[in-house]
Amino acid sequence: MLLKRNSRVINLRGRAIAKGDVRYMNFYFAPMEGLTGYIYRNAHNAFFNNIDKYFSPFIVANQSESFKTRELNDILPENNKGLVLIPQLLTNNAKDFIHTSKKIKQLGYNEINLNLGCPSGTVVSKNKGAGFLSKKEELNVFLDEIFSKSITKISLKTRLGIDQPEEFYDLIEIFNQYPLEELIIHPRTQKDFYKNKPNLKIFKEALILSKNPVCYNGDIFTSKDYKEFSVDFPSVDTLMVGRGLLANPGLNSYITDNIKLEKELLKDFHDKIYEDYKKILFGERTVLFKMKELWFYMIPVFSDNVKYAKKIKKSERLCDYDEAVSSLFRERDILESYINS
Ligand SMILES: Cc1cc2nc3c(=O)[nH]c(=O)nc-3n(C[C@H](O)[C@H](O)[C@H](O)COP(=O)(O)O)c2cc1C
Repeated sequence: MLLKRNSRVINLRGRAIAKGDVRYMNFYFAPMEGLTGYIYRNAHNAFFNNIDKYFSPFIVANQSESFKTRELNDILPENNKGLVLIPQLLTNNAKDFIHTSKKIKQLGYNEINLNLGCPSGTVVSKNKGAGFLSKKEELNVFLDEIFSKSITKISLKTRLGIDQPEEFYDLIEIFNQYPLEELIIHPRTQKDFYKNKPNLKIFKEALILSKNPVCYNGDIFTSKDYKEFSVDFPSVDTLMVGRGLLANPGLNSYITDNIKLEKELLKDFHDKIYEDYKKILFGERTVLFKMKELWFYMIPVFSDNVKYAKKIKKSERLCDYDEAVSSLFRERDILESYINS
């Protein structure tokens, strides 16, 4: 049976299907700590409404019986109405994963994503995130324990390894032992951070080797990137996008429905996020910090943006910020490469 949603045809598992010459794709919004929390996510869903799953930035699962207020607010169902959210956990301790999963399940969620990709030094040094990939035996025992409890469905978001992409051959043998909801692969190593290019050669092999459904993640910034990727990987039907969507929040609407990003819509989207942050954050500086972080990823879509980026970065009061953002939207346009490729 086929269902029509957001002008895309999906089957009952939510998986994209090909119909005639048209390719249908599932799009996930990547978790990005400090950026894609519920304020951003709700605004994105309200203005663009074309994402199959949003993933929460990681929640640290530890011995504590309760969530931090910020973490709980981010995944509370009343803060995520009308969208599909998959909470993400960061831990290497099965007991902590299990008791945190139970609490997440009580909130009404039936899938949890495990972060095996965070490359940051402080996380990796504790053998969490991508750091857990270097502890293969422990990882296997951990997965065995969390899957044997089967509290919710579990998906993994992983890198290829720590130093060498070939480490993935051992990892996939471990992942294949478990019924993953899906395996999301960002084909870089921990050492790569975000440098170099995603390793598509190993990703191609991962597609063949994986017994679980695979989702691709990495460096899809424009429609051109998407087209090149889909020519090389016709069997991939699920993409997770992070920085590309932060830059052009309508990227997947452009890809699937040829809807070009309008500057006015981007301005309204920005204003909604800004106003909502002002409601929940304390103090001008905190709001400015949040918005500046976002602009780091958003500014590249504008032509001749350097002067405006500096003005936004330097603003110390909301009134300076308002002026900098207004002049950017008034005087600059969205680059053709973002809406015409
Ligand atoms: C600032 C920042 C924060 C991130 N936070 C998370 C996170 O909380 N959990 C996670 O799994 N990945 C996180 N990532 C990685 C992204 O989800 C994604 O895998 C990465 O950006 C590559 O995808 P992209 O090329 O589409 O951006 C983060 C990346 C950045 C740049």
